[in-house]
Amino acid sequence: MPIGVGVIGAGTVGGGVIDILLANTGVIRDKTGAEVALKHVAELRQELLSDFDLSGVRVSPDAADLIADPEVQVVCELIGGVKAARTLILQALEAGKHVVTANKMLLAMHGRELAEAAARNGVELRYEAAVAGTIPIIKAIREGLVANHIHAVYGILNGTCNYILSRMTYEGKEFDEVLKQAQALGFAETPPDLDVEGHDTAHKCQILASLCHSSYVPLERVYVEGITRITHLDVAYAREMGCLIKLLAVVRRVEGEIEARVHPMLVPETHLLASVRNEFNAVYIESDCADATLYYGRGAGRLPTASAVVSDIVDIAVRGGGPARAPFQYTHDIPVRDIGLLEGRYYLRLTTRDHPGVLGKVCTVLGTHGVSIASCIQKDTAPGEPVHVVLMTHESVESSVAAAVAEIDGLEFIEAPTQLIRAL
Ligand code: HSE
Repeated sequence: MPIGVGVIGAGTVGGGVIDILLANTGVIRDKTGAEVALKHVAELRQELLSDFDLSGVRVSPDAADLIADPEVQVVCELIGGVKAARTLILQALEAGKHVVTANKMLLAMHGRELAEAAARNGVELRYEAAVAGTIPIIKAIREGLVANHIHAVYGILNGTCNYILSRMTYEGKEFDEVLKQAQALGFAETPPDLDVEGHDTAHKCQILASLCHSSYVPLERVYVEGITRITHLDVAYAREMGCLIKLLAVVRRVEGEIEARVHPMLVPETHLLASVRNEFNAVYIESDCADATLYYGRGAGRLPTASAVVSDIVDIAVRGGGPARAPFQYTHDIPVRDIGLLEGRYYLRLTTRDHPGVLGKVCTVLGTHGVSIASCIQKDTAPGEPVHVVLMTHESVESSVAAAVAEIDGLEFIEAPTQLIRAL
């Protein structure tokens, strides 16, 4: 007996899921023996459905009809957004239906409530497509690495930001120009602030942090900084230091706490993550038994994301009515570490008037706060022009670096706020 699937929303990802369910059930059967059948599509915008052959599939403008359909055992929520999607998922779970979603924002904000509803009703809530699109990272953490303590996760989880930073790096383009191109290519969120201010990555970071450590990490405890203040100057200085700038989600266990943070980082060109270009995503995991593992692929796009959604549907079909696995285990209640406690190396770009004693005063302030300089770049400029002094610190404590930068920015010869970027 095939498992019946209902798809709510036939937009980019929903359309891709419909395509795969209409075209690739044979390959799924060959690999698993499972029969998966598209039974129902709910979409208000009828014009979106004209490209599909939906003979034998019920079509409704109302998602409630789909949830109530006895032929639907798995409901795919692919409308995005928070309010309506949350209501629909809760309705489906309460109706005893399994749910598959790609909705990272909803999971990051309401994952706990949804997980409790799934457990209460003994059904699955699956979300492989919510983090890193087509990369099976949820499966890797829940299955392949299940026997490991995960020490650290470093993720490039936003295609738009990686695309923008790649083109700034390799083509010397400016931020605004490449953002427009990312939007035209269709992988930027609406509004793009969700991408470029780091929030989309923070949603994915929250999911990974909670999953890796079996502990609920509140979204508001994920530190987040985007890429809007990264300039071509920083990209160029980073390269001079043998690094690229990437927006990373970092999840680490440090002194019994969870670090969950999203911000741009200088990544050495020799690191595997430095080779991840354009809209591609990658996740690098360090764990106690498996050691280092790397996962790479498309984090967005119609069929890549839909492929991950269908993999969840097939997992549910293969389970064949066995006990549901909880989407998240909140076994522990681990504190989230304050960003001020972070220890690392820091790139600082100062903008200063060029006159005698400037470097001496800057070094004194850094020294007073216990921040030691590892290297320094300063280029000659035309008389009267401000000069950039670029410093890389030795390993330092973030709160000390921040205090030093605040003091430096108060010095009378400093002409613009100092740029601070953490280094891997
Ligand atoms: N806007 C997201 C990105 C889509 O650029 O990666 C996938 O979550």
